[in-house]
Parts: sequence; C-alpha cells; structure tokens
Amino acid sequence: MGRLAGKSALITGSARGIGRAFAEAYAGEGATVAIADIDLDRASETARQIGDAAYALQLDVTRQSSIDEAVKAAEEHAGGIDILVNNAALFDMAPIVDITRESYDRLFAVNVAGALFTMQAVARSMIARGKGGKIINMASQAGRRGEALVGVYCASKAAIISLTQSAGLDLIRHGINVNAIAPGVVEGEHWEHVDSCLRSMKVWLRAKRRSRSARPFPMAAWAPRRISSEWRSFWRPRKPTTWSPRPTMSTAATG
Ligand SMILES: NC(=O)c1ccc[n+]([C@@H]2O[C@H](COP(=O)([O-])OP(=O)(O)OC[C@H]3O[C@@H](n4cnc5c(N)ncnc54)[C@H](O)[C@@H]3O)[C@@H](O)[C@H]2O)c1
Repeated sequence: MGRLAGKSALITGSARGIGRAFAEAYAGEGATVAIADIDLDRASETARQIGDAAYALQLDVTRQSSIDEAVKAAEEHAGGIDILVNNAALFDMAPIVDITRESYDRLFAVNVAGALFTMQAVARSMIARGKGGKIINMASQAGRRGEALVGVYCASKAAIISLTQSAGLDLIRHGINVNAIAPGVVEGEHWEHVDSCLRSMKVWLRAKRRSRSARPFPMAAWAPRRISSEWRSFWRPRKPTTWSPRPTMSTAATG
C-alpha cells in the first residue's frame, strides 16, 4: 500500500512541470490528486494521463471565487483535502530600473497572494474537517537570496518562505503542518520562458572566460545536466544547486 493511500491532495499549477511531477508521485503513492490549474485543457490531459487517481480542476489563484470553487469541488470529489501543494507561480525578469508595476502586480498576485489565499481557503477546510493536514508551499533558492535581473521573483519567493513560517506557527494548533520546499534549477517549460524573457530584454549573455571570444547561450542550458562544466562554472550568479529530474517524496506530505 502506498504511503499516501486514502489521502486527498490538491496541487496548484500541476498541469505541467514540477506540479505535475508531484501529482504523478502522489498518485503513485495511492493519493487522489486534484490537478488544479488555470489551464483546464492541459490539466484535464494531465489527469487523463495519470489515470483514475487524478482529476482536473479549473483554478485561477488570483481570483477568490475560483479558489473557493476549487476547494469546494475537491471536498465534494474526495471528501476533503489532506494535502495542499501550493505550487502555481509566474516568473519574470528585468533590471531593477526597468521593473514595471504590471510585472510586480502580476507576479505578486499569483506567487504571493494566490499562494496565501489558497493556503487560507484550504486551511479553513482542513480545520472544519478536524483531521489536520499538510501544506507544502513552493519557494525557491531564489527566495533565499536576491539576484540581479530577478528582483520581483526573488522577493515573491522570499515572501513565501516568510508566510510559510507564519502559517506553520499558527496552524500547527489545528494539526496542520506547513512547510516550504526551495528547489534549485529543475528542468521544464519554465526555463523556456526564462529564455524568452532574456531574448525580449535583448540581453545577450556574453560568455567570456579565460579570454575566449564571446558567444550567446540560452539560460535554459543552465538547467539540464548535460550542460558542460565549463559553462556551468562561468554562468554562476549563485552556487549551483542540486539537480533532480523530479521531486522526491517529501516527508512534508507523508508526515
Ligand atoms: N523550475 C525551476 O527551476 C524552479 C526552481 C525553484 C522553484 N520553482 C517553483 O516551483 C513551482 C513550479 O515551477 P515549474 O517550473 O513547474 O513552473 P511552470 O511554469 O512549468 O508551471 C507553472 C504552472 O502554474 C500554472 N499557473 C500559472 N498561473 C496560474 C494561476 N493564476 N492559477 C493557477 N495556476 C496557474 C501554469 O498554467 C503552469 O501549469 C513554482 O512555484 C516555481 O516558482 C521552480
């Protein structure tokens, strides 16, 4: 029997990427999993591919009515929520002097307010049910230290770490554990978006190492394992982090 047999999980932003990997792992451990994403078509396809343990929910974490409806739908489908993975997030990049209000508002609406009010709605549901629960917020190494060009995203992930600490201290009296995971680079479509951000900024990263001539390379190359150690050692705005093809089952979920 799987470690999550009989448990019900809701994973935001799980139509693809890390959220999807969580959903597959949780379903593999016997959980019923809500693939909750703003992209319903893709969420449905992901749920279909995972199998009977998964079902799709439309969720826009920036809209309170959408959060409330998704929580209600999960309660009706699975009898309640045991595990929330607060995973949906957006990324953007710009030098500090070019950050726009629109970019700041968009990222904080999804990454911070979206995560907070989804956590709140699920916590209320867990408290009413009286069985406790597990909440896992997706932070990032970017939240542990600022990066040039990534100020808003880094700040949003720092906020997630802080909110996780506050919620953890507050909700434990209801038997709800709140933890955060701060991954390093995990390969996925997210990194294609990072590349497109770089292109739109017209920032050509010029690699000059040991007096070799410069040439551009995509930041996505930073992510996969196949990148040469030469590039990796050049392009190191922060210490390289461990790379994992998929998240491992966290004790945050299993208890
Ligand atoms: N990929 C990495 O290298 C990396 C590293 C550290 C942390 N993270 C964090 O892990 C999480 C997942 O990252 P990923 O790479 O899989 O991202 P991703 O961009 O591949 O997937 C994000 C998902 O969120 C969904 N989404 C976007 N806006 C939404 C909204 N308003 N409501 C509901 N869903 C919405 C998207 O449709 C998508 O399915 C994020 O919180 C990210 O910040 C990623």
